Formats: sequence, C-alpha cells, structure tokens
Amino acid sequence: MSELTWVEISRRALEGNIKQFRTLIGKDVLMCSCVKANAYGHGLLETAKIFLESGADWLAVNALYEAELLRKAGIDCPIYVMGYIGLDDLEQAANLGVRMVVYNKESISRLGEIGKPVKVHIKVETGNNRQGVLVEELLDFANFIKGFSNIEIEGMATHFANIEDTTDHSYAEKQLSKFNEAAALLEGAGFSIPIKHCANSAATILFKETYFNMVRTGIANYGMWPSNETYVSYLKEIGDGFELKAALTWKTKIAQIKTIKAGEYIGYGCTYKTAQETRLAILPVGYYDGYDRGISAGHVVIHGKRAAIRGRICMNIMMVDVSNIPEAKLEDEVILIGRDGEEKISAEQFGTWASSINYEVTTRINERIERIII
Ligand SMILES: Cc1ncc(COP(=O)(O)O)c(C=O)c1O
Repeated sequence: MSELTWVEISRRALEGNIKQFRTLIGKDVLMCSCVKANAYGHGLLETAKIFLESGADWLAVNALYEAELLRKAGIDCPIYVMGYIGLDDLEQAANLGVRMVVYNKESISRLGEIGKPVKVHIKVETGNNRQGVLVEELLDFANFIKGFSNIEIEGMATHFANIEDTTDHSYAEKQLSKFNEAAALLEGAGFSIPIKHCANSAATILFKETYFNMVRTGIANYGMWPSNETYVSYLKEIGDGFELKAALTWKTKIAQIKTIKAGEYIGYGCTYKTAQETRLAILPVGYYDGYDRGISAGHVVIHGKRAAIRGRICMNIMMVDVSNIPEAKLEDEVILIGRDGEEKISAEQFGTWASSINYEVTTRINERIERIII
C-alpha cells in the first residue's frame, strides 16, 4: 500500500549533528542521546542505530517499553530510563539491565527484594520541582540504598528548569551550584559517584561546566535549536562554528484539486470565506496525524511555493489554496514540514503557528506514519 503521508529522515543530518556534539564534548565525556518519544518523532529504532554508529555512547528513553523495543532490536548499549518505572515493572527493568533514575524509597525497597544487580542514578532536586530527592534528604536516601547490596549507585543527575527559555541563565547557575553541593555532600560522606550528569542540549551547547561525566542531549541531536533564546545566547557568548541540520521532512500528496467560486465557505464551522475564485487542494492529513488543529494561518509548500491553509484542520483532511500554483495536480508532493528549494517550513515555524514549540511539533507526528531514512 502506498503511503499518503510519510516522514523522511536525513541520515546525513543526524550523523552530522551527533559527530559535532562528539567533537564539542571530547572523548572523556559520555554522550547519552535522548531517543524518547519515538526519537522526538524521528523513529526510535533507526534513529537510535544512527546515533550509536555516529558516536553516541548511551541512549536515554522515558519509559521502560521504549527500552524494551531497543533491546528487542538488538541494541545493547547502556540505556538510561529517565521516567518513572512502576514498582511492578522494576524486575523487568533489572532483567533488561537498564540504568534507572531513582528518587523513591519504595522503588529501592522493591529493587532490594528483587535482588538482581542493578545500577541506579539518584535524581537530585535542584529547582525544577518535578522528579528528584531534596538535597536535605539526599544523604538519608543514599544511605538507604547502601543497605541493599544488589543496588549500585552509578550516577547522580539533575535537570535544568530554565536554561533554554531565557537568555538570563542565573536560575540555571543556581541549579548547577546546588548540584555541585549535592555531589560534594555525597562524596564527602564516602559515596563514589562515577557518572554525574545534568546537561541537556542547551547546557551542552552553552556551558562546558555542566558536562561532568556525561551529557544528555535531545533536541539538538535532531538538528533543532532548543529555542531562539539558546541560539541568541550561543551567538552572543560563543560565536559561530556550530551548525545544526534539521533531519525531518514531513510530506503528503494532493488528494483532490477543485476550483470554487468567490463567496464560498471552506471547512467545518465555515471559518473561511473565499474573496475570489480559488483553486483548492485537498490534503489527506489532519490533526489525527499530528497536524495541529489550532493552525489556521499556516502554509505548506508545493512545487517550491507556499500554499496557504484555508479553513479548519479536520481530523484527517486539510485544505490549501493553490491558486498561485497552476502546475499543482493530483498526487503531487506536498511539504508539511521541511524544505523545497527556496521555501522552508521549519518545526519552529510550525510551532509558532500552533502556539507551541519544535519539541512538541515533531513528537506529535503520529507514530504510525512511516519514517523513511534517506
Ligand atoms: C531528564 C531529561 N534530560 C535530558 C533531556 C534532553 O533535553 P533536550 O531535548 O533539551 O536536549 C530531557 C528532555 O526533555 C529530559 O527530560
């Protein structure tokens, strides 16, 4: 069956981004590439393989099922599970040999009961106030883990709350100081912590002092800047030399073309009324596929030219104006995200139209849509 919508992933772009990070962080720092959320929408297994072939040492996922998929595909590198693993899934996590982030005594007790050797990373709360152990409770938590001979504290981690959304990095600096204090506290009490880590893409690009023993990069591995603010900070503080290449192109085909009269309404709610005769292309993509329903003033690219969206995005269909693209015909290729000649719809642009961000845009592209590595 031929696909009506598909995603193309550029191997060269992914490889280039990873190699660039490898050079930036040097050989003594581990590179843990985040492939959660279907590799930020790029396709978990193929992307994971390309990352490892290009220089990543570890992979990070959110959930255990993602780690299972990687192991089933024969990927045997260290896998770090960043999200919560339910108590009843801890045995499976131990069987898969994944590194777990820990912050609950209940999880530790259950791992102790299971008795299999496991490596854990303590998540330290430094200011994000999501997962993590308060610094005041850290020693008690680490001592609790010490009571179970099968559990090895391999690492400690934290996550920045406000490093990419601003050009003022004072909050991130405070979190970094707190992380350093937490490390000193544990090491001062005789704990050895081989792998300390806190850097996401923005931290890795901007601040070498966040590297410790490992970086956990996500968005930039796929060729997207974490935000405009990160890009501005980079230009201001570092300069040039670091270039990210977006790897993802989302495409579809024209399903129908028709010309409608002036004064006609288009789509649900009759939100758009034609001011003149309009040549309309119907596209077989909608919000079920991940094309945000909130977008009304967006464009797609056909034959290297922009075609404006008309009316509301439906569940499986959307309509665009091809009055200025007379060569457009049935089954011609349409770029929803990506470049065609001089025209480009970036994930960032799409995010602006959808009142969202590039992270959400690419992770929301429905998993069942085929990812083709080119
Ligand atoms: C705990 C953790 N580490 C690292 C990352 C990677 O962040 P980024 O994609 O900004 O590089 C994420 C992403 O959300 C995360 O949740």
